[in-house]
Amino acid sequence: MYSLQELISMSERELSLISYPPRPAGLYEPIRYALAEGGKRIRPALVMMACNLFTETVTVAKPAALAVELFHNFTLLHDDIMDNADTRRGKPSVHKKWGANTAILSGDALLICAYKQLARSEERVLPKLVEVFNETALGVCEGQQYDMDFETRNDVTVDEYLKMIELKTAVLLAGALKLGAICGGGDEIETDLLYKYGINVGLAFQLQDDLLDTYADPEVFGKPIGGDILEGKKTYLLTNAMNRADDPTRLRLQQLIADKTMAPAEKIAQVRAIYDSLGIRELTEQAIKSYFDKAYLVLDAMEVAPERLKPLRTLTEGLQGRRK
Ligand code: IPE
Ligand code: IPE
Ligand code: MG
Ligand code: MG
Ligand code: MG
Repeated sequence: MYSLQELISMSERELSLISYPPRPAGLYEPIRYALAEGGKRIRPALVMMACNLFTETVTVAKPAALAVELFHNFTLLHDDIMDNADTRRGKPSVHKKWGANTAILSGDALLICAYKQLARSEERVLPKLVEVFNETALGVCEGQQYDMDFETRNDVTVDEYLKMIELKTAVLLAGALKLGAICGGGDEIETDLLYKYGINVGLAFQLQDDLLDTYADPEVFGKPIGGDILEGKKTYLLTNAMNRADDPTRLRLQQLIADKTMAPAEKIAQVRAIYDSLGIRELTEQAIKSYFDKAYLVLDAMEVAPERLKPLRTLTEGLQGRRK
């Protein structure tokens, strides 16, 4: 059995061994840049961990693990264009460094590279992996579309928000686990439980991402604070603030979010002051805890020797305290 750290290091190493053609440099250099160290690599680790629950032969899951991490990085290249985000992992985002056209095309190529890795899976598991990978990937696109649709709406409910983040973020974590379980030969009941665990961790993970976007230490977080506020993102914070606010405060919040002339730092400070007055930070922290608690309950329900679940528990605990 492998520890979490071993599986993360294995993922990092395997990623660094993928070679991309030297030319055209304009296409592949941004890919090398995006995949250079800095990511937490939780998704490939999830694939490997799920596989390792059922078999010691984790090599069978390596192609799927790499495919998931490449896919994730592809989504980030396009996401940073869509979100006008200039920084990623403490460095200029690809579109900021090379322009949107490069981020689009290198992103497309990265998606194809993801499928190239997936295609290297053992024949016995390949059809099922492709099916799950496709379903997952489309789910993420659907979530990203809702995320954009919601930017121009003021009536997004918390349920709609939760469905959106389930698609854009949680299905990839859950899908990673499912791919790993398929590689490892896990039975259907255990695989479904892993998926459910992944959804709950994924929801908690995106709620944390929303919280950190407004309240993190920017040095540690690797992205500037307040991007979601400036983009009018319907985060858990904003959606709940709209719900909790009295009529004048809700109107003020809507005006602030729509204001195109106010200095960014001022806008962020004013929105954050409203969040503070409404107890939004605490509310979000409670919601995060409740999804992590649900995730632990699902792990408890699994019929796998408790020591085998240790890497997943370690990962969950690590994520629960994350600052980036
Ligand atoms: C960022 O994911 C995108 C979200 C789903 C919030 P991560 O925070 O896992 O990004 P890296 O790969 O570790 O940088
Ligand atoms: C990311 O959501 C979801 C995907 C990239 C699919 P965010 O837009 O909140 O992620 P960050 O904050 O840019 O990492
Ligand atoms: Mg983004
Ligand atoms: Mg986004
Ligand atoms: Mg975010």
